Amino acid sequence: MMTKKGYFGHSAKPNQTMRIIIIVFVGIIFGFFIGVSFPSLPLTKLNITSYLIRDFSITGNKTTDGSTQKSVENNSTGNKNVKDISKIWIPSNPKGAERLPPGIVASESDFSLRRLWGLPNEDLASEPKYLVTFTVGYDQRNNIDAAVKKFSDNFTVLLFHYDGRTTEWDEFEWSKRAIHVSARKQTKWWYAKRFLHPDIVAPYDYIFIWDEDLGVDHFNAEEYIKLVKKHGLEISQPGLEPTRGTTWQMTKRRDGSEVHKETTEKPGWCSDPHLPPCAAFVEIMAPVFSRDAWRCVWHMIQNDLVHGWGLDLALQHCVEPAHEKIGVVDAQWIVHQTVPSLGNQGQVEDGNAPWRGVRLRCQREWNMFKARFANAEKAYYKSIGIDPSNFTAH
Ligand SMILES: *[C@@H]1O[C@H](CO)[C@@H](O)[C@H](O)[C@H]1NC(C)=O
Ligand SMILES: *[C@@H]1O[C@H](CO)[C@@H](O)[C@H](O)[C@H]1NC(C)=O
Ligand SMILES: *[C@@H]1O[C@H](CO)[C@@H](O)[C@H](O)[C@H]1NC(C)=O
Ligand SMILES: *[C@@H]1O[C@H](CO)[C@@H](O)[C@H](O)[C@H]1NC(C)=O
Ligand SMILES: *[C@@H]1O[C@H](CO)[C@@H](O)[C@H](O)[C@H]1NC(C)=O
Repeated sequence: MMTKKGYFGHSAKPNQTMRIIIIVFVGIIFGFFIGVSFPSLPLTKLNITSYLIRDFSITGNKTTDGSTQKSVENNSTGNKNVKDISKIWIPSNPKGAERLPPGIVASESDFSLRRLWGLPNEDLASEPKYLVTFTVGYDQRNNIDAAVKKFSDNFTVLLFHYDGRTTEWDEFEWSKRAIHVSARKQTKWWYAKRFLHPDIVAPYDYIFIWDEDLGVDHFNAEEYIKLVKKHGLEISQPGLEPTRGTTWQMTKRRDGSEVHKETTEKPGWCSDPHLPPCAAFVEIMAPVFSRDAWRCVWHMIQNDLVHGWGLDLALQHCVEPAHEKIGVVDAQWIVHQTVPSLGNQGQVEDGNAPWRGVRLRCQREWNMFKARFANAEKAYYKSIGIDPSNFTAH
């Protein structure tokens, strides 16, 4: 405004200058009022306005779907205002954002905390490259404190609280830098589906989605990541110290080994040495996903199946070849302490103990997941006219 006024002032006579100043002044006031009143307009009104502008030449059924709009525009005989190239429509933008100029589209985010002041580009001293999440109750705080200390500053820490207690964690220095998400009595996979969308966790090379009852005395996260990279593991877990609770050979830690990708199970357990539970398999208590693998696995998690049973056996669908890209890191290993936690917080139902109700639900979910996967696979092959029984499908 100032430069404009000055520029006009030089060449204009005093009389005109005054007029121009008044016009500019009135313009400023007018603009100010528009600016002030705009945000208070109801959103629907704004939408209607923009629709009227955009679609005023189109009669009939309008949808927000651009394809309809396009073909109508393209096809409209006798319409004047067709193919308005001043209107943006970028099909390669994320779905729903086609009306935006691509340069403004921010399709991904992160968990980095920002300041309320200063220059935005100076907010972050460093951007963490990895993400670790724990699903926690306050009772396990000392175990989680020990675990978090095994993760360097290169990690963003995200805690999912199932007991509603979050502020108490501030007794730990690191807690103030962590992200806390609280929702009562929900499971790890419930949180993961809702708060770890692939576009949100896209900046992180690796994502650790861990339980709260893991002993980490022999684990270091930076060393772990070095081994995962070296051996090309897209989905992995630390080896488990063999205890009587260990059920799978695959996830047992091996002495003197860095990483292993296959094992032998009891006779008859493995139909194929490259398939679970002999290979291409890790358990759900302490999985680590690469960014790309997680993008796939996230889509496989069902909204109503929260315990994740059976997910471990299906991970193989997300990487290729699965028996080379899924493995167990022996040199950085953990102990599964199996403390009772969420598993005890079911409801007494039909006279069953709370833990039994949870266990039954786990089994039920596993069966549902298996059936859904099989049906989806069948439907796919049918849709392309192939009989999957003619090859060994998995
Ligand atoms: C527009 O068409 C869709 C299907 O093409 C239909 O479901 C919808 O009800 C229609 N809307 C109006 C306002 O006619
Ligand atoms: C519009 O129609 C023309 C010719 O009928 C066709 O070449 C063009 O691809 C159409 N455009 C769109 C966006 O459908
Ligand atoms: C154009 O509109 C007519 C009638 O609405 C329709 O039959 C025809 O398929 C349309 N053509 C295109 C290219 O969309
Ligand atoms: C964090 O990552 C950088 C780059 O990979 C590495 O040089 C540094 O040693 C890491 N920090 C720690 C504490 O390991
Ligand atoms: C599957 O195999 C059967 C018997 O070998 C054969 O008759 C059938 O055509 C095959 N189907 C497909 C889709 O290849």
